[in-house]
Amino acid sequence: MADVVVIGSGIAGLFVATRCARAGLDTMVVTKKNLSDSSTNWAQGGIAAAMENHDLQSHIDDTIRAGCGLSNPEIVEMVVRESAQRIEDLITSGVQFDTDESGFDLAMEGGHSNRRILHAKDATGAEIERALIVEAKASDNLELLEDHMAVDLILQDKSAEIKEISGIWVLSPNGEVQTIPTRAIIIATGGAGHIYRQTTNPSVATGDGIAMAHRAGALVRDLEFVQFHPTALAMMGERPFLITEALRGHGAVLMNNENLQDWKLKGGDPASFSFMLNYDSRGSLATRDIVARAADQEMKRTGDNCVWLVTSHLKSIDLKQRFPTIQSRLDKHGLELGVEPLPVAPAAHYMVGGISVDKNGLAQQCPSCSNPLPFRGLYAIGEVACTGLHGANRLASNSLLEAVVFSNRCAEHVIANLKPESNEELPIWRADGLSNLVEHSPLRSDRIALQSTMTDDVGLVKRNVRLQRAQRRLEFLRQEVDHIWRGSLPTREVIELRNMIHVSRLVTAAAIGRKTNVGLHHNLDHD
Ligand code: SIN
Repeated sequence: MADVVVIGSGIAGLFVATRCARAGLDTMVVTKKNLSDSSTNWAQGGIAAAMENHDLQSHIDDTIRAGCGLSNPEIVEMVVRESAQRIEDLITSGVQFDTDESGFDLAMEGGHSNRRILHAKDATGAEIERALIVEAKASDNLELLEDHMAVDLILQDKSAEIKEISGIWVLSPNGEVQTIPTRAIIIATGGAGHIYRQTTNPSVATGDGIAMAHRAGALVRDLEFVQFHPTALAMMGERPFLITEALRGHGAVLMNNENLQDWKLKGGDPASFSFMLNYDSRGSLATRDIVARAADQEMKRTGDNCVWLVTSHLKSIDLKQRFPTIQSRLDKHGLELGVEPLPVAPAAHYMVGGISVDKNGLAQQCPSCSNPLPFRGLYAIGEVACTGLHGANRLASNSLLEAVVFSNRCAEHVIANLKPESNEELPIWRADGLSNLVEHSPLRSDRIALQSTMTDDVGLVKRNVRLQRAQRRLEFLRQEVDHIWRGSLPTREVIELRNMIHVSRLVTAAAIGRKTNVGLHHNLDHD
């Protein structure tokens, strides 16, 4: 029994867990690999915050502009207004942001009008994760369960309209499914980048939280808005590696092969040679939706499998000292920041949509979807949630901020609204007659088929006929994996694949449902 179960151990999960534990609640963190296996740990650029009052309105305006008018203005204002306090909380938790003689060393990223990104060199997420893990391990009332994978939520229908959380099934490392009673569940499982072939996300990002919550009746929304990061290092045979937008904030420029040759011949300001000027007057620092689509279009037009990020003109900054994580990755390939152009291509990076939540992270259930009701005891925070902050496109470095603001609000709401303890018997996981022999090769090929379908048919740029093809293929995969699911004991591979298929079907249905092009949603059959 735990008062609160938190699923996931990135910034959102650890921040909320330490706050709940501090308030005396028996808190359990369930995470399917190690504590540090989270997207937070891989975040490079930083965390956006309006640290001075004069920047509040500008940060609000930039967020709404990037979201193409689909953000919820009340949520945007709330998040930006709470940003400076939450940064102070992170510092109190031990996070060390870079400073210079004037205070915080604030960076610039695409879509921002001012320098407002706090960072720890190019390993901001790792620094936040480090500090929060230290804090979590030192906390009383906090149990940390690594290598435990959430399978499904256990609910009680209190009435036709009211659903309440009463527990969770969790796969433990010995292969048993435990039933854990609890008074509240906070889903903080991050995104679903691995439904695509190329992603900047760690292997844990398989959409588990969205799938679990949706199966339990939670409302999900805006899933058609999948953000592709324009500059992932594109080396043949290697998984993509994020090249932070902060590099473009320092003046790095995107070019295609033709631009590069032209610039080498003529010299001068590299920005004036960039293909990006054909797409947006902000050039390489336009918002991510625009830059990623432009890079994709250039690659299709030229037939090349990458575009180039040029840094050799950046003489006023020691790039290797400012971006050591990137340089150490480049070392493997004999590349040097400030010298060679870097081959980059778009890769799936962030789910803007997710579990629909209110301003405290409380999930909403969806009896008819036109009038969602709160879901008692179920919360979602971080990338897995859809708060209304990002609208149709997330502004760079607003995600860590959203996570920490909603984690704080969520902790306060959980502490004030925990349902009374109950002695009810919970159902145990169905185990009878199930074989423990799961064949892994069909699972692997189904996973590859899923990623190919999503990449080819539900990617950066869509078409109606391809979306419909994806729907048919995903339905076939669903049936196949459902058959395995019903006949065998769950393993991490089966649970993940089942979740990935579930989320992919939701993303595809959402893309079919969105009839106009806006932000990250772009269908060539629409205007
Ligand atoms: C980056 O460093 O470019 C990623 C930051 C983000 O996704 O907000």
